[in-house]
Amino acid sequence: MISGVFSVDSKAELGEEIREEFPLLANNSELAYLDNAATSQKPESVLSAMNRYYREENANVHRSLYKLAEISTLALENSRAVVRQYLNAASSQEIIFTKSSTEGLNLCAWSLGELLLSPGDIVLVSALEHHSNFVPWQQAANRADAKLVAIPVNEDATLNIDFLETLEKDGRAEKIRILAVAHISNAFGTIHPIRAISAWCRKHDITMVLDAAQSLPHFPIDVQATGADFLVFSGHKTYGPMGAGVLWGHEKWLEKMPPWQTGGEMISTVRLEKSTWNELPYKFEAGTPNVAAVVGLAAALNWMIATGLSRLETRELKLGEHAYEKLVSVKGLKLYGPVDLNQRRGVFSFNLEGIHSHDVAQYLDKAQIAIRSGHHCAQPAMRHLGIQSTARASLAVYNTIHEVDRLVDAIVGAREYF
Ligand SMILES: Cc1ncc(COP(=O)(O)O)c(C=O)c1O
Repeated sequence: MISGVFSVDSKAELGEEIREEFPLLANNSELAYLDNAATSQKPESVLSAMNRYYREENANVHRSLYKLAEISTLALENSRAVVRQYLNAASSQEIIFTKSSTEGLNLCAWSLGELLLSPGDIVLVSALEHHSNFVPWQQAANRADAKLVAIPVNEDATLNIDFLETLEKDGRAEKIRILAVAHISNAFGTIHPIRAISAWCRKHDITMVLDAAQSLPHFPIDVQATGADFLVFSGHKTYGPMGAGVLWGHEKWLEKMPPWQTGGEMISTVRLEKSTWNELPYKFEAGTPNVAAVVGLAAALNWMIATGLSRLETRELKLGEHAYEKLVSVKGLKLYGPVDLNQRRGVFSFNLEGIHSHDVAQYLDKAQIAIRSGHHCAQPAMRHLGIQSTARASLAVYNTIHEVDRLVDAIVGAREYF
């Protein structure tokens, strides 16, 4: 348990200095933005890096010999180097720029599916996945006449890992070609035991895809240490802009996988009867990339490094602990997810007895508190737990103890109002 390790800082001690670096928040001093699992706000350094790119460096990349195009290409490739270093990937060739986690997962599902799946094979996901890490695999399995199987969910929104043993015992483990799992559940904040899962994948020669959309914004990840073969994340949830995401993949797989989209920089030669593909990573980057967004994504990672990764993480852990303790003490509030704070991060999914989560979210909006309500693109998870929807507050580094207290006071107000 993390509980008790950190004392709750006063508002002054926590400081508002990080919040001040985010123009949208600095200009909306009353707004408590608690929808960070959906998207984060962007610091000034990200906005100015993108602005500078369009004002000073904009030209189409790669296919030109003039100076400005070289500068633009350098901006793209320098950003790739930043991502490579941040993830500790073996080489920049393993870093594919996408527009989002969803696009990275679709690329992976299509291309890996083509390479690995045959009739009768199994793709294993979990029932806690975001639709973006569920439906692409369902479609890939359908195309190959393979089967999609989901690891079931326990009542506390953790994965029923014993199910892996069942798969071993009944022989299905030998048919699994791909396992795709989130690092952290966007609906409940559960941290999944990805090291144990990747070790199990190794044992059974299963290719593992890790959806880090909800983890990468909150702590650094060394892709080589995860044991996964692929990882995706979204820039816009990581203090970067919308329109840029990353797919990291082991070179040994990327080399063998067929391209997903075709045209543009991914081409090497084209003849009427046959085309050939560019080398990695370009083989998977068809068409003109969103260079400004990629530059913004790299600026966001640099902002996190400059601000101090462990400082950011410590701050979020303190906030999370405070939020957890306050929320569980609210009468009539059911908080979903694990009770062990070591097994959860930053996402607080709850319902107030007898009150629809949409009503709670609307009531909170009147108090300038932005949270989300719904199934959080995780319908299988909601079905497993027998719920329609939840209200979800999710934290980021610029949130404050004061905002968490306002959230809890407003929830109590909602309970009394309805
Ligand atoms: C766990 C998880 N995976 C994938 C996605 C999809 O991310 P994006 O919408 O940026 O493609 C999300 C978005 O909320 C998510 O939380």
